[in-house]
Amino acid sequence: MYISSLSLSLTALALVSPCTAYPQNRFSQPVLRTETDAQSRADTIKAAFTHAWDGYYQYAFPHDELHPVSNGYGDSRNGWGASAVDALSTAIIMHNATIVNQILDHIAEVDYSKTDSTVSLFETTIRYLAGMLSGYDLLKGPASDLVTNSSKVDVLLTQSKNLADVLKFAFDTPSGVPYNNLNITSGGNDGATTNGLAVTGTLALEWTRLSDLTGDPTYANLSQKAESYLLNPQPKSAEPFPGLVGSNINIATGQFADAQVSWNGGDDSYYEYLIKMYVYDPKRFGLYKDRWVAAAQSTIQHLASHPSTRPDLTFLASYNNGKLGLSSQHLTCFDGGSFLLGGTVLDRDDFINFGLDLVNGCHDTYNSTLTGIGPETFSWDSSSVPSSQQALYESAGFYITSGAYILRPEVIESFYYAWRVTGQETYREWIWNAFSAINNYCRTGSGFAGLTNVNAANGGNRYDNQESFLFAEVMKYSYLAFSEDADWQTQKGSGNKFVFNTEAHPMRVST
Ligand SMILES: *[C@@H]1O[C@H](CO)[C@@H](O)[C@H](O)[C@H]1NC(C)=O
Ligand SMILES: *[C@@H]1O[C@H](CO)[C@@H](O)[C@H](O)[C@H]1NC(C)=O
Ligand SMILES: *[C@@H]1O[C@H](CO)[C@@H](O)[C@H](O)[C@H]1NC(C)=O
Ligand SMILES: *[C@@H]1O[C@H](CO)[C@@H](O)[C@H](O)[C@H]1NC(C)=O
Ligand SMILES: *[C@@H]1O[C@H](CO)[C@@H](O)[C@H](O)[C@H]1NC(C)=O
Repeated sequence: MYISSLSLSLTALALVSPCTAYPQNRFSQPVLRTETDAQSRADTIKAAFTHAWDGYYQYAFPHDELHPVSNGYGDSRNGWGASAVDALSTAIIMHNATIVNQILDHIAEVDYSKTDSTVSLFETTIRYLAGMLSGYDLLKGPASDLVTNSSKVDVLLTQSKNLADVLKFAFDTPSGVPYNNLNITSGGNDGATTNGLAVTGTLALEWTRLSDLTGDPTYANLSQKAESYLLNPQPKSAEPFPGLVGSNINIATGQFADAQVSWNGGDDSYYEYLIKMYVYDPKRFGLYKDRWVAAAQSTIQHLASHPSTRPDLTFLASYNNGKLGLSSQHLTCFDGGSFLLGGTVLDRDDFINFGLDLVNGCHDTYNSTLTGIGPETFSWDSSSVPSSQQALYESAGFYITSGAYILRPEVIESFYYAWRVTGQETYREWIWNAFSAINNYCRTGSGFAGLTNVNAANGGNRYDNQESFLFAEVMKYSYLAFSEDADWQTQKGSGNKFVFNTEAHPMRVST
């Protein structure tokens, strides 16, 4: 889940002393958990979710997000109640009818045609549109016992269509590659000449689902037309290795504007959605799968990178014009999960094993810091190790280039896939350790705050912001590892009934 800019402009607030109710058990050995152990962990995660919901509801609702230190609020996502919509699918999975009804009542009142601020097509699609479509799929399907008044559920689809109808002018360009930054009042845009790989290539799941549910092909067509330029990249030089493509696309022509390759923020969920579209419908999205397989094989061959001090670890480098970039991001750590999903769906042990290598590398960025939480960005370029971090580089194989943690989910997300695909307790032990560290260091009186430095005592200072993906992703993937098997859980093999969008909203696969 890519967010275009890290909110580091937020003032770091004075140190808030973290709650110390949770013991630091991050070095404990995995043990076979009984069902009772799993249930008590699921209950603890559910209690953390309701803690955050109650604080948001008291101090910030119906604004977009809570400021968890000052108990204020922000409207960074156009003021339509982003945290509420993003929390819906998690509240459903946790079976909390009170919260689900509060959110449904809110969504019924939102006017998606009105906002004072610029609308991101990508962020609005992955948080709002997907949050509503997922709520609809769950409440019409495996969670239908939660809301008995079906017209309250139907509002989710009506509002999804209303929102997409507001946004669809974005695709009205010479090529069909959309603008991302929109003025929905004037029908204008920010005048950009290119659009990014991830923001262009992370729309097809949501917009296709909307078409499949409404029977109106317009939405699927728009998103798939835009994607067609990514699947058949021009010029040829924009694909330096099979399947791995450049980072920016010309909005007028659909041609790539560069050949910079990575799985980092800005590029990430393009690769994620190639295999997820195949999970959504193998009949329609065979080409997407072929492109993912090509990208995955090229990634193993050309981007896999091992720190000189820790050759046992695997990270993904970036590539541009013959040069490898030896740095990576918390965002990039969705990569292990993508290889594990593709590997299990396609029955490819080479992909599963490589996915586990990536998961292991990302785990190393967590369990090597003082908080047990991994940094926003890190490097293993041995030519520029800061002397203050030489010891960290020697022992852990990376050094920190930004030590912030803004409640991102990707490492826990990939642990979740590792747990579901292998069934090995180690991986959900890692989830528990990561969740416990977040609960320990990030928790405030009203919710959860980001940290300025994961490798400082107590995590440094706090960012006074609680991104909506805390509800959608961190809480959900943590909870799913300890809760019952269900239709919405990722399955080993090819029998998935749901597929998670990049914001962790489960969408029912095409039938
Ligand atoms: C549901 O959420 C509400 C509000 O946060 C909380 O008070 C209640 O205990 C939760 N119910 C269940 C069954 O978890
Ligand atoms: C959008 O366009 C309207 C009408 O031209 C203008 O008043 C408004 O300030 C613009 N909004 C943004 C966020 O730029
Ligand atoms: C069901 O929900 C609809 C839409 O919110 C509402 O108008 C209607 O009164 C509700 N019906 C019942 C029986 O509560
Ligand atoms: C959608 O795309 C199909 C195939 O390209 C085309 O036949 C159809 O007319 C399009 N429908 C709409 C509503 O755009
Ligand atoms: C981190 O976890 C790995 C894998 O479980 C373990 O081998 C290693 O010792 C841990 N590192 C630290 C610093 O605890």
